[in-house]
Amino acid sequence: MDDLFAHAESRQSDPEKRVLELSQQLEHHNTLYYQDAEPEVSDAEYDALMNELKKLEASHPSLAKADSPTQRVGGAPLKDFQQIKHLVPMLSIEDIHELKDEELEALIDPSASKMQNLHDWYQRLTKNLGLDQVALSVEPKIDGVAVSVVYRDGVLDYAVTRGDGATGDDITQNIKTIKSIPLRLPDGAPTLFEVRGEVFMPNEAFAKLNEQRDEAGEPAFVNPRNATAGTLKQLDSKLVATRPLDCIFHSYGQVNDAPYTSTSEFQQTLRDYQLKSSHWFEEVNSVTDLLSSITKLDTDRHHFAYATDGAVIKVSKLATHQELGTTSKHPKWACAYKFLPEQKETLLRQITIQVGRTGVLTPVAELEPVFVSGTTVSRATLHNQDEIDRKDVRIGDTVIIEKAGEIIPAVVKVITAKRPPLSKPFSLFEYVNGECPSCSGPIEQEEGFVAWRCSNFACPAQAVTRIKHFASRKALDIDGLGTAVAEKLVETQTVSTTLELFDLTPESLADLLLDPAKLEGGQSKPRRLGEKKAQLIVDSLNQSKEAPLSKWIYAMGIPQIGESAAREIARLHRSLAEVSQSTILKDLAELPDFEELSVSKRKKENHPRLAQYQIESELGPVAAQHIVAFFNSLAGEHVLEKLEALAINPDSDNYDPEKSAVLSSDSPVAGKTFVITGTLSKPRPSFKKIIESLGGKVSGSISKNTDYLLAGEKAGSKRSKAESLGVSILSEDEFTSLTS
Ligand code: IVH
Repeated sequence: MDDLFAHAESRQSDPEKRVLELSQQLEHHNTLYYQDAEPEVSDAEYDALMNELKKLEASHPSLAKADSPTQRVGGAPLKDFQQIKHLVPMLSIEDIHELKDEELEALIDPSASKMQNLHDWYQRLTKNLGLDQVALSVEPKIDGVAVSVVYRDGVLDYAVTRGDGATGDDITQNIKTIKSIPLRLPDGAPTLFEVRGEVFMPNEAFAKLNEQRDEAGEPAFVNPRNATAGTLKQLDSKLVATRPLDCIFHSYGQVNDAPYTSTSEFQQTLRDYQLKSSHWFEEVNSVTDLLSSITKLDTDRHHFAYATDGAVIKVSKLATHQELGTTSKHPKWACAYKFLPEQKETLLRQITIQVGRTGVLTPVAELEPVFVSGTTVSRATLHNQDEIDRKDVRIGDTVIIEKAGEIIPAVVKVITAKRPPLSKPFSLFEYVNGECPSCSGPIEQEEGFVAWRCSNFACPAQAVTRIKHFASRKALDIDGLGTAVAEKLVETQTVSTTLELFDLTPESLADLLLDPAKLEGGQSKPRRLGEKKAQLIVDSLNQSKEAPLSKWIYAMGIPQIGESAAREIARLHRSLAEVSQSTILKDLAELPDFEELSVSKRKKENHPRLAQYQIESELGPVAAQHIVAFFNSLAGEHVLEKLEALAINPDSDNYDPEKSAVLSSDSPVAGKTFVITGTLSKPRPSFKKIIESLGGKVSGSISKNTDYLLAGEKAGSKRSKAESLGVSILSEDEFTSLTS
């Protein structure tokens, strides 16, 4: 009772105390949930605490601290990442490779194992130390993205990417969204603690994210590491907060009064200060034990929640690290042993064709089930006809499969020697008789695209996936509208396009008969949706009318427009009307696809403003082409008309007027070359900064390519040269009115 009373008291009278209390409670629950996987409170209780804290911070802004748990939802989008120099350089580790069968066979020594290289490394190490044996530790090599996190006086100060090893990007905002990373360490932590680790996306979360991207027609991430890297380079930490990242710490940089003398003591220190460390860690004293530890890890790792691609082996004693030192690139006291991906042989029994939300026909290999890298695999995507041709994959083939990035099953190659005599090359078009397997509509191959696509906009397979996407959590988050309901709505021809969902009434929905649930004994009975669920769906649809522009753009399911592209588009536009008329998107759509060009070539291209933007953001010409095409199409026109009729007019919640102005071709400075001369009111670099921020360039000398000369007092030869070349000359005042 006393406690409760004290609680209520502090809530009313001392907001500062309550903010501290709430912050501590929330972080405590975070640790329990994200590190120990042992939550003590329900999600609802957690949300209630978080909401109370958010409200308090909103009404008392001075109480909102940098280490507040509310910071974990992300902040305002950044323009750019600042550069931060590492306190201690971030080195990489020497790689040692597991030998392939053919490499092993080529060795003369008959007793050599596939770990021969590791064996040799151990011999060199012991020889170097003048010892027979040396104590080592073995831990998984996490296949993620390296980060260095600096805690000062127990508070997370900043976080940096590896960059070039000396300097990296300041990704503090993004790192703070990772719930397992403490914002404050328990008492007693070193006053300066630079910890290093690997950020990763757990396998399950990665698979889910890719499923959503597939459905959105966005390119899937190749592996969890790419997904992590792509997420961490986002300037919008609110988007990062929606991606399920995690982090495991494994090493350190600068540390004051380090309380450890060996790698295992360091592991203990990490645990003491609630920094997540590897759950798999072994110590070995001989080469035999080392090799068996590695073999064990190679089996165990297939059950880990995250991707690993090897083992990191470190000398245990830190004093020995000092003794051995480093080369210019790596420490001499560690190595990374890289495993070869596990490959298995199996039979490709059949090829099936899936129809996606955007009508793309994807061939899928149906395999004789086989156990690879920890799971049983029975299907693998064959992507498209080009892939099939390249590998000459045929039905009935014996194939080698592996998991790309240890996660996604892929057909690596065909064993042609085992091919049945009468097999024929596989042609997707012939296989489906030129018809969509879902609606029998015509299929076509867009110019420049390898994929075959069903061109029937009313194709039920597409309609169902489109509705599911529209209603998914990351789109408009319509409660109660899952696969079963979407399928029935389409099958009964109640709804065939997403916006028709808004014509549904609770009455019309309640009677929907969902597919019979299979009951015991093979009996089955259709299930009525019912009034309650029907009302939930309609309420949720009504609510979605207020969803921000980014969610609406994403929900439309335009090919190549995923969550991040949609947020980026909403960052540059205020409304759908603006998006549909956008000159930024039109300009961007006309650029060459820089992803395919080298960096130097990108720089040479004549689009400095948009080119730079494209490098920084996830919005490239291909995405821009799709969105422009959509709003120019009949379907796009219908969507705009229908939205208007429904009085739905979503607003952007992340509009960035400055960025939008810079990118818009209306800016008179964009793409122009300036030369600066004479005495001005501020140093030249400040003018250079203004010009560049508006998409212009500054050059040192005047030529016929110069657009403007910004001329201050006492402008000399440059002024006369500009005059003779007919280059426009601006006074400082004229410059100011041009740029503001
Ligand atoms: S220890 C001097 N331990 O792999 C570097 N690194 O090229 C000490 N990595 O730079 C790093 N798992 O980013 C260490 N258990 C682990 C690791 C690990 C992944 C990364 C790390 C390192 C790179 C090796």
